[in-house]
Amino acid sequence: MQSAVYEKLKKCESCIRRVTDFTPRVAIVLGSGLGDYADTIRVAAQVPYGDIEGFPVSTVPGHDGRFIFGYVGDVPVVCMKGRVHYYEGYEISDVVLPIRLMKLLGAEILFLTNASGGVNTSFHAGDLMLITDQISCFAPNPLIGANIEELGTRFPDMSHVYDLGLQELIKAAAREQNIFLQQGVYAQLTGPSFETPAEIRMLRALGCDAVGMSTAVEAVTATHMGMRICGISCVCNLAAGMTASPLSHKEVQEAADRAAPVFKSLVTESVKRFGAI
Ligand code: HPA
Repeated sequence: MQSAVYEKLKKCESCIRRVTDFTPRVAIVLGSGLGDYADTIRVAAQVPYGDIEGFPVSTVPGHDGRFIFGYVGDVPVVCMKGRVHYYEGYEISDVVLPIRLMKLLGAEILFLTNASGGVNTSFHAGDLMLITDQISCFAPNPLIGANIEELGTRFPDMSHVYDLGLQELIKAAAREQNIFLQQGVYAQLTGPSFETPAEIRMLRALGCDAVGMSTAVEAVTATHMGMRICGISCVCNLAAGMTASPLSHKEVQEAADRAAPVFKSLVTESVKRFGAI
């Protein structure tokens, strides 16, 4: 018997297939403030999330929801303009449904982006961080429940979530464009409250460099399905207790907007390089 989660996923797939037969190679998830990256894509088709039966629709301002199918250079991509977060109240299986859907549509590579708070004391607001590993165990595991055999194995290996080859290509793209790139471990907490200073000290002691409210559960799901994964985090602020100023969503969005031009060109140049592998 097919699980309800898989049935819903297949329904979403056929909704999209009624609109377009586009086959993406790379799936790109755009984080806070990066929504307008979609403007740099040569668009072939667009599907608003609201048109997909059963698809979770975001409630966060600044997260306009649609799939954009098109080309970055010659590389066929599907881009998620807006993601849904666990803190919005969705089941975790709905939070990761879009990742599963993009894989079913053909994407082999997943490029995750997000906004984060810097935990590493050598980071600065506005830095971009290549994600080298993650801490996902503070968020619910999206694979809990009957395993969906059609998608992957019961106990996926998590030794190399972030693909080393893709990391090298992103680093090469950054070098070529003189973009300074931090590297580190991203931790996902559920939010929506920002962390306390004590939680940030805990995360630092655990080896975390940046913290946010997305991404890691998506990477768990994509690992389950055997996708090659990479991620870049825009460190929008230093985390709680590291500066005198209180944190706000507005501040995060403004910082993401400021970093957007550099972030966009790094994503574009990286994706073009992925086309060669
Ligand atoms: N904490 C969690 N998520 C975030 C932060 C933060 O400081 N900044 C941007 N997203």
